[in-house]
Amino acid sequence: MTDTHIVTIDRHIIDEERNRPGASGAFSNLLTDIALAAKVISRQVNMAGLVDILGRVGHRNVQGEPVQKLDVFAQDVIYRAMDHTGHLCCMVSEELEDWVPIPEKFPAGEYILLFDPLDGSSNIDVNVSIGTIFSLQRKVTEHERGSLEDCLQPGRRQLAAGYVVYGSSTMLVYTTGRGVHGFTLDPSIGEFILSHEDIRIPQPPSRYYSVNEAYASRWSPGMQRLVEDLKRSRGGEFSSRYIGSLVADFHRTLLRGGIFMYPGDQKHPSGKLRLLYEASPLAFIAEEAGGRASDGTGDILDIQPTELHQRTPLFIGSTDLVDRAEEFLAND
Ligand code: AHG
Ligand code: MN
Ligand code: MN
Repeated sequence: MTDTHIVTIDRHIIDEERNRPGASGAFSNLLTDIALAAKVISRQVNMAGLVDILGRVGHRNVQGEPVQKLDVFAQDVIYRAMDHTGHLCCMVSEELEDWVPIPEKFPAGEYILLFDPLDGSSNIDVNVSIGTIFSLQRKVTEHERGSLEDCLQPGRRQLAAGYVVYGSSTMLVYTTGRGVHGFTLDPSIGEFILSHEDIRIPQPPSRYYSVNEAYASRWSPGMQRLVEDLKRSRGGEFSSRYIGSLVADFHRTLLRGGIFMYPGDQKHPSGKLRLLYEASPLAFIAEEAGGRASDGTGDILDIQPTELHQRTPLFIGSTDLVDRAEEFLAND
């Protein structure tokens, strides 16, 4: 008898809340609101080739990168889904230079949402998997509508973290510190259904290493030796995979094991990926799934942020490989 036990993400969130003594409904409502935003973005992503949502809007964002129409769409959908709910005091987005307090016309709450509305923008127009990444922190100051200090908290304090990968199917993966759980969107009923309960990064031998080797000439000697070691490991049993969308590369690493690396280099010593809304939430998920995430010297989750859009090198995935990366980089 197959298990027809259908669990929607809303049901799962409520059940999780029951296991959290003293939890207010606010936290659960937030996660439900994020799932709703993900459905709206998923619909637009899946129609991207049919509606005028491809291409660039003609200006650059705070990162100096060309903004895609879908970046703006995803940003607007998440902001408008979350600004009036009364659970947030402020938000941080990759697409917004400064942190954004909840408008006075709406009630303010205890939580901060930090998010990358559309990850993998360079892949939008070529129909390659893209994603959304989010992180939830609790306010630590008395400011009703938050402050920079509330936004700059170490990843270790996150209450929840998750991502949506818009790929061959749309999946939402999240953790609240009690395991990592994956939900696949059934577009025929508009529900995220539990499909991957308690995801654990597979034990070694891991199969893939993932890094953009076009930058190898700019890597440190330790980084170059690390990748050469991975190529020689176990008689070359590793395979290389690099999609160029962090969410998709991480999702594969979470399910198949291995390591994703975006190191710093001579040109960009801190690498490209942002700490608050890319590395930190994925690091929480990786640790909850039995893996690790490092900036090459120590845990991502222990970094005390100093700027909203600060970048960090990222080595994330199977613990044994992240440990090995730190060993090779220690000699740099
Ligand atoms: P975003 O689209 O949010 O700016 O993120 C893009 C990032 C990340 O998704 C990916 O891992 C990385 O850019 C790829 O960078 P390279 O093209 O330099 O490899
Ligand atoms: Mn991104
Ligand atoms: Mn982005």
